[in-house]
Amino acid sequence: MLSKVPWQHTLLSPRAHWAWYGVLAWPLMWMVWATFNDALGANPAEALSRSTGDWTLRWLCLVLAITPLRHIAGAPVLLRFRRSTGVACFLYACVHMLCYAWFDQSFDIQAMAKDLVKRPFIWVGMLAFVAMWPLAVTSNNASVRWLGGKRWQQLHRMVYLLPVLAVLHFYWMRAGKNNFAEVWVYTLVLSVLLVWRVWWKAKTSPRI
Ligand code: HEM
Repeated sequence: MLSKVPWQHTLLSPRAHWAWYGVLAWPLMWMVWATFNDALGANPAEALSRSTGDWTLRWLCLVLAITPLRHIAGAPVLLRFRRSTGVACFLYACVHMLCYAWFDQSFDIQAMAKDLVKRPFIWVGMLAFVAMWPLAVTSNNASVRWLGGKRWQQLHRMVYLLPVLAVLHFYWMRAGKNNFAEVWVYTLVLSVLLVWRVWWKAKTSPRI
């Protein structure tokens, strides 16, 4: 298969991996640069909260796109980039959560608990964040060995819950402003990715 798609060899090199880490880190590095150079606009805290939320969602789309791309392009090597993209998605979610706890709530746990009850989009976001933890902490070879391949795969199917929660979080957040354009774009992209998986499974599972 590798010989059928010649560019796959380029992606196997450690240099390609480091380049990909650079791509994953780039938005965050830009945010750090913009923070120290007064380039985040009139409301820097809001800009950071929103950008980190946007990037969490973008990396999630990419994680879910890797398997379809791998099959469509006939390039199994793409799988090697899934783990780092997934970990990046989790780290951006951590920074997003940190922005909320710091800028919105000044690390006041009681205020955060009240907010959780008051604003539905917050608890949906929190649910998505909690659901990411088991996936993030088991994203290493030792966990695959410890759980066994089958159980590890079953656990990692939880990833399909994330797009639903993430889109709901985004939708509810924007509902107050009646501004859904981007929400529909992400909903469409994530729906296509999920429907593709169902179709692929039906196509490849053995017929009785
Ligand atoms: C997988 C987890 C999450 C994803 C994918 C996500 C994604 C997003 C997105 C896309 C936005 C809208 C950004 C925009 O308007 O351009 C957003 C906003 C927001 N999220 Fe999340 N989020 C997640 C988890 C959380 C958590 C755990 C919290 C806090 C408990 C949270 C709090 C917020 C807040 C407060 C905003 C509004 C920011 C503002 O308008 O200043 N999110 N999130």
